[in-house]
Amino acid sequence: MNISTPPKITISSLGQKKKQQEKIVALTAYDYPTARIIDQTDIDIILVGDSLGMVILGYHDTLPVTMEEMLHHTKAVARAVKRALVVADMPYLSYHLSLETSIANAARFIKEAQADAVKIEGASPSRLKLIEHLQEAEIPVMGHVGLTPQSIRHLGNYRVQGKKINQASQILEDAIALEKAGVFSIVLESIPRELAQIITKKLSIPTIGIGAGPDCDGQILVLHDMLGLTSDISPKFVKKYLDGRELFLQAIETYLTEVKQNKFPTDEHSYHLNSPDTHRLTKKSSSNLKSKN
Ligand code: KIV
Repeated sequence: MNISTPPKITISSLGQKKKQQEKIVALTAYDYPTARIIDQTDIDIILVGDSLGMVILGYHDTLPVTMEEMLHHTKAVARAVKRALVVADMPYLSYHLSLETSIANAARFIKEAQADAVKIEGASPSRLKLIEHLQEAEIPVMGHVGLTPQSIRHLGNYRVQGKKINQASQILEDAIALEKAGVFSIVLESIPRELAQIITKKLSIPTIGIGAGPDCDGQILVLHDMLGLTSDISPKFVKKYLDGRELFLQAIETYLTEVKQNKFPTDEHSYHLNSPDTHRLTKKSSSNLKSKN
């Protein structure tokens, strides 16, 4: 853990890490207090993922997440973070309509929310063209291939992608095209380890894996999954580093019992009047009572 503020992580320092084969470590965050805690560690990238729709806002998938919701949470995270690179996920339909609207939406994350970069899913021709335009607008972009949750209506489920050779070579081609279009890094989500390894070797930009095996240049997890705060069954690639749900429940149950049994608050948690004032006030209150009677 770093006590003094170390230098800010930049896109070029991430590139350096790939060259030096130093692993890049990323986590999601959606609010000020957790982003502050994460930023006290050596985590390189904090992604304000649109997973917030499911993890924080209780939506069924990420599709309902709006620009305003993403901006609101990105602002809170950016206020907290001094060191890590803050990447904001562009929500569904914020970069699918006109080029002009998409660039304007991306710029809001940089200008209003103070993010360092944005993330966009997919590698269709229009997506690649947008990424090129975003470079001209000085907006760094992270790509995302493999399982792209915003395509859930097309995919039909959240299963691993690229298990068949045709699909695997399409994902490889997409990753190459994204690098050519100018992304500074690519998230590889839920793809076979072998495919992630081939992509990672082929690209000169860092790959960040989630469910893509250990050979990527870096890894990312959804914070609430790794802290054991999400209640539903998690995918195979999630490792729980804490049983947060159980710890939350224990603390809340203890609080509940202590209040009911008058064990909390104690004098330790109370403020005091000095004793002459307490005496005066007690007298006044009893004389008020007498005059009313
Ligand atoms: O939204 C998100 O949290 C993500 C990560 C899973 C990469 O896109």
